[in-house]
Amino acid sequence: MVRKESETALKCSLGLFDATAISVGAIIGGGIFVVIGIAADLAGSALLVSMVLAAVIATFTALSFAELTAWQPVEGSVYEYARQLISPFAGFLAGWMWLLSNTFTGAAVALGFAYYFTAMIPALPSKVVAAVVCIAFTVLNFIGARQSALLNNILVTAKVLILFFFIILGACYMSPANFTPFEPLNAGVLYGACFIFFAYIGFARVAVIAEEIKDAKRNVPRAMLLSLGLSTLIYVLVGAVAVGLVGAAKLAASNSPLAEAISATGSVVGLQIVAFGGLLATASVLLTSILGVSRMAYSMARRGDMPQAFAKLHRKFCTPYYAIAIVGTLMTALVLLVDLTRVVALSTFATLFYYALTNTAAFKLKTEPRRYSRLIPAVGLSTCLALLAFTLFAAAQAWVIGIICLTAGALYYGARDMLQKKL
Ligand code: ALA
Repeated sequence: MVRKESETALKCSLGLFDATAISVGAIIGGGIFVVIGIAADLAGSALLVSMVLAAVIATFTALSFAELTAWQPVEGSVYEYARQLISPFAGFLAGWMWLLSNTFTGAAVALGFAYYFTAMIPALPSKVVAAVVCIAFTVLNFIGARQSALLNNILVTAKVLILFFFIILGACYMSPANFTPFEPLNAGVLYGACFIFFAYIGFARVAVIAEEIKDAKRNVPRAMLLSLGLSTLIYVLVGAVAVGLVGAAKLAASNSPLAEAISATGSVVGLQIVAFGGLLATASVLLTSILGVSRMAYSMARRGDMPQAFAKLHRKFCTPYYAIAIVGTLMTALVLLVDLTRVVALSTFATLFYYALTNTAAFKLKTEPRRYSRLIPAVGLSTCLALLAFTLFAAAQAWVIGIICLTAGALYYGARDMLQKKL
C-alpha cells in the first residue's frame, strides 16, 4: 500500500530491529533455496568462493547506499539519488531498472516457490503453479496486503531458524569427499558469483522506505550492513553444508537443491521443514517485490517520470492498482515464457546497472563530512561493472534482453521529454 506524501512523512515508527528484519526479509529467498543450484553448476565445490565474492561486491554497494541514506533518507532511494546527484535522465534509468529488476526477481522467486511446491506434489506442472502464485500475490497486493512489521519479523525469524536447522542437521552428515575437486581459481567461480549475487539482492529495499524508519540516518545504513552480514554468514554455512551433504553436481541437477541436500540425511521431517522454508522464503520475497515495484512506480509517477495512472490510488484499497496490475501481468508472462536461469540473469543485470548508478551518485556526493572515503563507491562501481561484464559471458541472452529493456526506457524518456517540450 502506498500512503499519501503527508501521511508518509508523519509515520516514522520502525526501529533498528524492524529495519534489519525488512532487509533480511527481502534478501533471503530464492537465491539460497534455488539459485544455489545454478551457481553450484558453474563453480563446483568452490561455490563458497563465489558466495564470498558476491558478498564483498554487494558490501561495497551497500556502503554507498549507506552514505547516500545518511545524507538524505528519502522514499524513492536510488531514483532520487541518481536524479539529484547525476542527472534527471540517470535518475529515470535507475528507477526504470529498479522496476525491471524487481519484476524479474518476483518472477524468479515465483518459479522457486513452484519448484519447492512441485517437489512435494510432483503431479503439478511447475510453470502453472508459478503463474497461479504470481496472480494470487498480485491480488493480495492489489487489496492492500501491506506486510506489517510484526508479520515480517515472524516470517524472517522462521526463514532464519529453518536455515539454521538445515545447517545443524546437515552438518552431522557431511562428507569431506564432496569438496573434491576444489578449484577456486576456475573461471566458473566468477560466473557462479554472477548468479549467486541474486541471493544478496534486496539489502537496499529498506532504503526505499527510509522515511518510515526512526532515526533513519543512523538506522537505515546499520540495517543494510547488519542484514548483509547476517545473510552472508548464513549463506556461507548453508553453502558449505549443502555441498558437504551431496556435492555440487547433485545440487546443480535439482530444482529444489536444499531439499535435495537435506534428503541425504534420511530425515523425512527434516525434508518437510526445509521444503516449507523454501516456500516461505520465496513467497515472502515475492510479496515484497510486487510491493517494491508499486512503490517505485508511484514515486516516479509523482515526478512525471511514469504515466500518471501509476500514481493513481484505488479508491477503496488505497493501492496503486495500475502499477500492480502491470507488474503482475509481466511476472505471470515471464514465469510462463522464460526459464529460471535467464530470469535470474536478467534480474542481476538490471540490479547491477542501478547499483552502478548508486555508486556513481555516492562518488559524486559533495556533502562533508562523508562517512566513507570516495574509494568505497569507486571500488563499488568497478566491481559492479566487472560483474556485469562477466554476466555477458555467463548469460549472453540476458544481456541482450537487458540492453533492449534499457533502450526501451531511454526511448520512453526521450519521447516523453519531446512531448513535454512541445506542449
Ligand atoms: N535475494 C533475493 C532472493 O534470494 C532476491 O530471493
